[in-house]
Amino acid sequence: MAAPRENWSSRSGFILAAVGSAVGLGNIWRFPYVAYENGGGAFLVPYLIALVTAGLPLLYLDYVVGQKYRSSPPTAYKRMVKSAEAIGWWQVLVATIIAIYYASVLTWAGNFMFFSFGQQWGADPEAYFFKTYLQNADTMTWEFVPHLFIGLVIVWGISLAIMYGGIKKGVELANKICIPLLLIMFTLLVIQSLRLPGAVDGLNAFFTPNWSAMTDPKVWLAAYGHIFFSLSIGFGIMVTFASYLPRNANLTGSGLVVGLANSSFEILAGIGIFAALGFMAQSSGLPVSEVVSSGIGLAFIAFPKLISSMGPSGDIVGFLFFGSLVIAGISSIVSILEVPIAAFKDKFGWSRNKSVTIIGGLSALISIVLFSSKNAITFVDIIDNFANNIGIVVGALLSIVWITWLNRSVLPELTQHINRISSIKLGKTWAFMLTVITPLSLLVALVLTLKSLLTKGYGDYPFMTQLIFGWGVVAIFGFGALVLTVLKNTNKEI
Ligand code: ALA
Repeated sequence: MAAPRENWSSRSGFILAAVGSAVGLGNIWRFPYVAYENGGGAFLVPYLIALVTAGLPLLYLDYVVGQKYRSSPPTAYKRMVKSAEAIGWWQVLVATIIAIYYASVLTWAGNFMFFSFGQQWGADPEAYFFKTYLQNADTMTWEFVPHLFIGLVIVWGISLAIMYGGIKKGVELANKICIPLLLIMFTLLVIQSLRLPGAVDGLNAFFTPNWSAMTDPKVWLAAYGHIFFSLSIGFGIMVTFASYLPRNANLTGSGLVVGLANSSFEILAGIGIFAALGFMAQSSGLPVSEVVSSGIGLAFIAFPKLISSMGPSGDIVGFLFFGSLVIAGISSIVSILEVPIAAFKDKFGWSRNKSVTIIGGLSALISIVLFSSKNAITFVDIIDNFANNIGIVVGALLSIVWITWLNRSVLPELTQHINRISSIKLGKTWAFMLTVITPLSLLVALVLTLKSLLTKGYGDYPFMTQLIFGWGVVAIFGFGALVLTVLKNTNKEI
């Protein structure tokens, strides 16, 4: 007899883990830089619209699919609609690729947590981050950076150790420790940030909507691309997490808590970072929109600059900031890794240990090889862009189209199921969002992304680099999903 499916110890255990998954590097590292690149205040309105029109509807869909069909995405989708298994595998592969680069950013945060003591970045944090720390090469090279390698090995060691612990003793326990710690550390940090002179200028930049920038499709794309990453939806996490819930779990109530907690934390992080940018603007005499140049490195440049300007007391602020990143990141990376680990367990009948060793081990190996090189930030930037703006968006779009457009009896069944067990009832608005608004907004976002990538490419990176690490990754999602779907199911239970 196979072991029964793992489960959460309680509803609060699940909510905590789902919040731990959603709140991650996306909130502290990605959101502020995406907002900064997309006009600051201009970004907030599209972000909130994306949350309501696509984020929450899809969060509920992920929950109900996982909970009703009690499985990770490929098997859950297959149980729902036979032809949908490949969509599940697409999402699993997106999650795997995200875990692979997520570990890299987590490593940087871990290192910077220690660099905060004595402010080792010196007088020029930008040069320190790119040149001294990442040893960033302008051309493609496989030269190896030993301290990145060591950091990655530690990050993967911790992550896989948690995964071997399973749902209750691994993922849930890690979140019980991480979330309270994160809340305390981050709140202290934001308070500190708000007390800085000039903070209010940063907040003005963050909260003043710039209506003209909102006519730029790029801003909307970034908002839709970010919301899925941030809520951990569309790439299998919430389907998988919900599959460990009991049959009568209150899904909508929990979903609302998770969605609100995640966006509140995200906006709190925006406040913290923009207050710091305001302070820097005041001390440098530049406008907030120009104080730091590099998007992806924002957290690793803006914060060190801020810390340096605080004198020796900045050390502790740095420790709090980068420590928060590490803690939030660990509780998220384990949720991302749970997706492929559970998917292989479910389809091939593997034990947890076997799945963690093979799938986790392989992901760790690829991650360590790629991101201990002098091109780490180039790879992170390109893969992050393609995995989010194409990988997640396509995965989410396909699942919605399959459920609401091509198999019309499914959504009413799901609605009936979720309403039978949940406190907040879903009705016509949810169906309308999922059938019309979410897919159309995703479709528009996708078409515009493809048009821009195919005509202008991404950033200033060489064509070959984009081809391999951008389009190559998309090809892996597609081919990999088909191959994994046709492989024989060897789980006797399914
Ligand atoms: N939702 C996770 C994050 O925001 C992946 O980092």
